[in-house]
Parts: sequence; C-alpha cells; structure tokens
Amino acid sequence: MTILVTGGAGFIGGNFVLDWCVDSTETVVNLDKLTYAGNLDTLSGLQNNPQHVFVKGDIGDKALLAKLLAQYQPRAVVNFAAESHVDRSIHGPGDFIETNIVGTFNLLEAVRAYWTDLEATKKAEFRFLHVSTDEVYGTLSGTDEPFAETNRYEPNSPYSASKAASDHLVRAWHHTYGLPVVTTNCSNNYGPYHFPEKLIPLVILNALAGKPLPIYGDGQQIRDWLYVKDHCSAIRRVLAQGRLGETYNVGGWNEMANLDVVHAICALLDELKPRADGAKYVEQITYVTDRPGHDRRYAIDARKLEQELGWKPAETFESGIRKTVQWYLDSHDWIANVTSGSYREWTDKQYGGQA
Ligand code: NAD
Ligand code: DAU
Repeated sequence: MTILVTGGAGFIGGNFVLDWCVDSTETVVNLDKLTYAGNLDTLSGLQNNPQHVFVKGDIGDKALLAKLLAQYQPRAVVNFAAESHVDRSIHGPGDFIETNIVGTFNLLEAVRAYWTDLEATKKAEFRFLHVSTDEVYGTLSGTDEPFAETNRYEPNSPYSASKAASDHLVRAWHHTYGLPVVTTNCSNNYGPYHFPEKLIPLVILNALAGKPLPIYGDGQQIRDWLYVKDHCSAIRRVLAQGRLGETYNVGGWNEMANLDVVHAICALLDELKPRADGAKYVEQITYVTDRPGHDRRYAIDARKLEQELGWKPAETFESGIRKTVQWYLDSHDWIANVTSGSYREWTDKQYGGQA
C-alpha cells in the first residue's frame, strides 16, 4: 500500500513523513515543489530508505500528478502543500492564490480523475485528507468560545483567505462529485524542522545569535500551540477513522500570549545555554511594528476529534517547548543551511533593521 503526501519537505509534512516511516510499513510518495520552505535536509535520514520516494514537483502540475497517481496507485492523498506564512502573504499574495487555491483545484481534479476509475473496493477505501488551519475562522475576542467546526469562515489575511478557499473547494468536490475527503483545521504548530520565519524558531535563533527578539504590537495576541508530532498523530487518526466529508479541529488546549511564549523560550535558554555575558535573554526583546490586520486570538475546541476518534495530544507546552529548544541547540547543520542567502533577504524585508 502507498500514500501520496504533498508538501512533505516542509515543516509539518516533513515531520509527518518521518513519523510515517517509523509508524507504518506503507510507502510514502512525497511530492514537493521545494520552495524556500521545502528542505531536503529535513528528510536526510530517509535517504537510503526505499519506503520514501521523493518527487520534486508542483501540485498545480496535472500531468505530473496523473503520472504519479497512475504509477503508484496510492490509497490516500494527504495535502500539506501550501504557502504558509501570513507575513509573506501580506507582502505578496500572488503565490498564495496560485498554490493554495489554483494548486488545490488542480490537485483535486487530478485525484478525482484517478479515483473515478478505481475499482469499487479501492474507490470506497480511498481518502483525500486536506490539511488546513484554524485561521479560516478569523479572530476571537478574549471572552469568545474557542473555534468549533460549526463556526463561520471569516478569514482575515491573504493566507487565511486562500486556505479558506481551498477548504471550500475540497468540500465541494465531496458534495458534488462524491470524492471521499476529510479536512483538518489545526492551530499553531511548533517543534523540530520549523522554518525560522515563524515566531518560535525565529526567537530561538535570534536569541542565540544575540539579535533582537521582535514582538509585533503589544505581544498580547493569543495562539493555541500544538507540538507538531501531535498534529501528525491527529492526521493519522483522521485518515484512518475520520468520517467522510467531515472537518476536524485539531488543537492542544494551550492558549498563550506571544509575550509569554517568548518569555518561556528565554527562560529555557537561560537554563540550557546561558548567555556568555551573564545577562538574561529577555533583555533582547524588542517591540516592532505590528502585523497589518493581526488576528488577536485563536483557540481551538478539539472535542469532536477527542470524542469521535479518541485523539489527545501527548505533549504539554512545557514538555514540547523544551524538546524544541533542545532540538535547535543540537541541529547546527540544519540551521546553517536554512539561514543562509534568501532567508537573510526575507528578514531584512520584514523587519527592516528593527530586528
Ligand atoms: P511549510 O511552509 O513549512 O511547508 C510547505 C511545503 O509545501 C514546503 O515544503 C513547500 O516546498 C511545499 N510547497 C509549496 N508550494 C507547493 C506547490 N505548489 N507544490 C508542491 N509543494 C509545494 O508549511 P507547514 O507549516 O509545514 O504547513 C503545512 C500545511 O499545514 C499547510 O497547508 C498549512 O496551511 C497547514 N497548517 C500549518 C500550521 C502551522 O502552524 N505551521 C498550522 C495549521 C495548518
Ligand atoms: O494558526 C495556525 C497558523 O499558525 C498556520 O495556519 C500558519 O501556517 C502558521 O504560520 C501560524 O500562523 P501565525 O501567523 O499565527 O504564526 P507566526 O509564527 O507567524 O506568528 C505567531 C504569532 O507571533 C502571531 O501573533 C504573530 C507574532 N509574531 C510573529 C513573528 C514572526 C511576532 O510577534 N513577531 C514575529 O517576528
């Protein structure tokens, strides 16, 4: 048996593929365009593992998809491929429309053509799992209930709007064509192999480099953090047991203000890698210009996934963030490769000398 994963050289897809090759004996075909966010170093441990087949390519390339689907006959497709960074979507939304909307459309069409011709048993067993985000629901006030699957879609950034559009396409391909889909909407992930444009890895690496730790606005925005390997276990559970056409929210019941997250990282670094000058890492915190349209609070109600499918996260924020900080302290080569060249151009553009 084989599954096709898209975007499996990125942060979550990479962790998913690595875990899949430990948990399962099934082959995983990994289609990834290798944008700035795709990184084969993440998958270097699988280099001589025949269970993993890497293909460089675009989810928008229907001819390539048709070829791969015919060749490998996967029993499922798990779609991670996306442009994923809110700040980049503000600077340049075009790639988000192209990959997240048009790319998902082309992928759905290629998969529909393949699925339509499958014989009855394989057709019934086939799954298309679409990996999405809690940002499609918009923003919460401090007193609102966490996002449930029944919340209205109210996306606020070009990124979240493009993900919302892709979720709607996936839903429509089920409703209209009967394609056997499930969608997951997850909160903020953190953990190993996270590209350092996102808050947690950026703060760890800037702290160690003696650079400012940039806090947007007042730092009181709230996110609901989930260790990436818990997200991956939720996806495996939904793939195996999720009801067709359903959406499942995934989260860790772990709401924290950004400033508290940064303080927690600083405290861990003070313990694990104290500054040479004896000062504390929190002294590097710098308040910078806020993100335009910045969503104030995300929080996930993950009861449906827990009650229907029995999934629960294994890590608390305390255990997960300690593992994460330790991983960045230990992973010099991976970090050196991702922080060269184009990464520096991005930080100059985004922080313009503020961090
Ligand atoms: P990422 O940016 O780290 O990785 C995205 C991967 O997709 C990269 O390897 C990139 O090369 C690949 N890719 C981009 N465009 C492609 C295309 N057109 N064709 C093929 N491959 C392409 O993203 P991530 O953080 O790992 O997120 C993965 C998925 O999970 C995304 O769909 C994202 O919306 C969703 N998600 C992310 C989070 C989070 O906190 N990071 C939370 C919830 C949901
Ligand atoms: O909620 C799920 C989403 O989480 C995913 O769909 C996205 O793909 C993922 O990137 C993430 O989006 P966020 O915008 O919440 O993540 P980010 O790490 O960029 O920012 C987290 C919070 O920290 C957010 O409130 C913005 C703030 N921030 C971020 C950066 C990069 C800062 O204060 N300073 C920074 O330098």
